[in-house]
Formats: sequence, C-alpha cells, structure tokens
Amino acid sequence: MRSRRRFLAIAAAAAAAGLRPSLARGDTSAAAAPEAGPLLTRPIPASGEMLPVIGMGTSGSFDRPADERDALREVLRRFLAAGARVIDTAPVYGEAEAAVGVLVAEAGAREKVFLATKISITGREAGLAQFQRSLADLRTDAVDLLQVHSLRDWQTQLPLIRALKAEGKTRYVGVTHSSNGAHDDLAAVIESERPDFLQVNYSVAEPAAQDRLLPLARDLGVAVIVNRAFLDGALFKRVDGKALPPWAADFGIGSWAQLFLKFALSHPAVTVVIPATGKPDRQSDNLEAGVGPMLPPAQCAELVQIFA
Ligand SMILES: NC(=O)c1ccc[n+]([C@@H]2O[C@H](COP(=O)([O-])OP(=O)(O)OC[C@H]3O[C@@H](n4cnc5c(N)ncnc54)[C@H](OP(=O)(O)O)[C@@H]3O)[C@@H](O)[C@H]2O)c1
Repeated sequence: MRSRRRFLAIAAAAAAAGLRPSLARGDTSAAAAPEAGPLLTRPIPASGEMLPVIGMGTSGSFDRPADERDALREVLRRFLAAGARVIDTAPVYGEAEAAVGVLVAEAGAREKVFLATKISITGREAGLAQFQRSLADLRTDAVDLLQVHSLRDWQTQLPLIRALKAEGKTRYVGVTHSSNGAHDDLAAVIESERPDFLQVNYSVAEPAAQDRLLPLARDLGVAVIVNRAFLDGALFKRVDGKALPPWAADFGIGSWAQLFLKFALSHPAVTVVIPATGKPDRQSDNLEAGVGPMLPPAQCAELVQIFA
C-alpha cells in the first residue's frame, strides 16, 4: 500500500513535470514500449518488409569498452522491448560494432534486430577484409543492410556489396552520407544504381534533402534512413529552456527530441530515423516519437523557419 501511494505521488509529480512515471523514477525495470501503443512500421519499397520507424545509431554512443557497457545494455533492452529493430553501425565507430555484437548476442536478439553496417574504406580487397572483421565483431554470418559509407569509393564498393548480397552476406544494399554538400552526388548514385536504401542527414536545421533527394528516393522506390536528426546533439543547445510549440501535444509530442524525430518521420519518403544515445532514459524518450500522428506540412514548415 505504501509503495502504491509512493508510486501515485511520483506519478503526480512526473505528470506535473511532463514526464512518464517510469522515466521520472529512473526505473530500469520499467516496460519500454511507447505509452501510446506499438511503434509505427513502414515498408522497405524493394521488398515490402515492414520496419519500425524508430531505429538507433551507434556513432559515439556505443563506442565503449567491455567494462563500460551497462548503460548500453539497458539502452538496447528498452529498444527491443519497444519492438524497435534497426541498428546502424560502422567499422570506423571505434568499439561500437563490437559492443553491438556482444550486447545483441547476450540478449539473444540477432533474429529480432535489423543490423546495418557499412564499408568505409578504399579498394575491393580492403573492403572485403573490413566487412569480414565487421561480421566477426557483430557476431553474425550476415547483416541485413550493407552500405557504402559516405559514398567512399562507391564505384568499387557498390559492386562488392551487390556481390555480397548475391552470396547471402547482406539482405539489402545501401549508400550513405551526412552532409548537404553530397546530396547531388547521392541523387546521381541512387538514380543510376537504384540501391535498396539511402541514408542521409535530414533535420529541422538541415532540411535540404526534402527539396530533391527525398522525393527522388520515393519515386525510385528507395528506402530512406535519416541520420543526424538531432544534428549530433547540437539542436538541444538551441532549445535549452525553451517551451515546445503549443501544438506539439496535439501530435503526442512531449519533448524536443520527439519533435525533432517526428519532423524527420513526417516526410512521406522516410522509412526509419536512427537517433543515437548511450542513455536509457533518452532511448525511452526517442522511442515515444514512433507512435501517433505525423506533423502536417504547415507544422514542418514552421519548424524549418525556426531552426534552419
Ligand atoms: N555518413 C554516415 O553514414 C553517417 C553520418 C552521421 C551519422 N550516421 C549514423 O546516424 C546516427 C545518428 O547520427 P549522430 O549520432 O551523428 O547524431 P544524432 O542522432 O543527431 O544525435 C546524437 C546526440 O544526441 C544526443 N541525444 C540522443 N537522444 C537524446 C535525447 N532524447 N535528449 C537529448 N539528447 C539526446 C546524444 O547524446 P547521448 O549519447 O549523451 O545521449 C548524442 O550526443 C549515427 O550514430 C550513425 O549511426 C551515419
């Protein structure tokens, strides 16, 4: 009875602070599914396979040695408990691939997750050797998506990735970049090569992809993964102490993180967004963006006007 009273008191304080009770009490055993229901899913155009719209990145956040991974274990637990699947990593993210490999194996979750990694090197032999190391670090025989990292040596690596797909070493082929200056090159490559996936930067502060690249991906039937939805965290400094727009609650949005993620997901070409965090409560926050209504064009335009 006392614990129920304590829970109700915490819940009331949390509601006043705009937090979910589970987040407010820092309860690591709390269920991680978004409050409003299961995560939305969207199809990969090439196959029709459905993916939950919130995934996660691992650059920086998962670059932790073996004795510093307790928080990451909980970040992954909440991710899986919410039904999320897409994990994006790369062989050049320090310890991130190894951390993902160990933690996914430990959770017995290899069949549940959609593992995306990259080839980030020049030359075919070097690309193959790098991918073999990735498979070992990720503790798997095959990945779900293999991408050319930032278009590096794409004329060599894309044919290699296609060959690896034919061998069953990856289910999908992709290309990535994260700077506006590369959008023309990305557009040319997706038009001529028709990969299964495009990964690109898209946020309230860097909305350029919406002009041409995202509509092109949609027309070509290329799935889109959005990176840098928080501008690598820089967006949070810009909203420090600022209230959310008054209409945010109408879309089930309870934090700036959810607003930034929902902006990315509101473009009809976008399949999944991959925010990166090493903090469990931020993971729970981010997962909440994967439910409820999307933002109409007027709200998206207002955000671009404020941040871009
Ligand atoms: N060329 C490429 O292929 C390329 C380039 C860039 C990124 N990517 C991929 O895209 C992923 C995402 O991009 P990113 O890592 O550059 O940046 P991001 O997701 O835009 O931002 C990550 C930053 O936001 C903070 N954060 C996360 N959730 C938060 C929350 N709810 N509230 C407040 N702060 C929060 C994180 O800090 P904490 O960790 O301290 O929470 C981290 O500093 C990468 O991890 C990577 O997988 C690919």
